[in-house]
Amino acid sequence: MAILRWAEETARAVLADALPRRWVHVQEVAVRAGRMAVALDEENGEVLHAAAWLHDVGYAPELATTFHPLDGARYLRTVGAPERLVGLVAFHSAAASEARSLGFSGEMAQFEDERSLVRDLLWFADMTIGPGGECMTFDRRMAELQERYAPDHYVVRALEVGIGERRAAVERAERWLDLVGLTDRNHSGG
Ligand SMILES: [Fe+2]
Repeated sequence: MAILRWAEETARAVLADALPRRWVHVQEVAVRAGRMAVALDEENGEVLHAAAWLHDVGYAPELATTFHPLDGARYLRTVGAPERLVGLVAFHSAAASEARSLGFSGEMAQFEDERSLVRDLLWFADMTIGPGGECMTFDRRMAELQERYAPDHYVVRALEVGIGERRAAVERAERWLDLVGLTDRNHSGG
């Protein structure tokens, strides 16, 4: 439980005042992750929930120098976050594909992508919660990203290369949610 409180406070410290809308998104991603965490064992559930709190810290103006998954992971390592959290943040939501297209693969190599159910669930939560904390389908969320950023922004440029990987992770997460009886079509499909 201590790690959860630490994750929430760490994210709040860099995002809440600087990027209030982003902070709302993060809080809702954490709520969704927390709901899924109850169907995992304690350790994995806690890691999922903590990673959800931390996944976007790299957007904080004081930390942003390259692109947000890498900036976030670097920061978390400097403040002594557990390596699993560092890796989940580094590679969240197709960041590896994005890093390749942006020329950051070399720097990403210092982190580990665990390619696990926890990772898929983190991606699912991030990609079904909109920028203001609203629930939306994966397809709507991808369209929303394209609408929100300028065509030459890295988020849009990198979107295409990572879309297949994102969709596959979301589908795996949805299958698991069905399996454990956590599917809420209205919630994930609104
Ligand atoms: Fe996010």
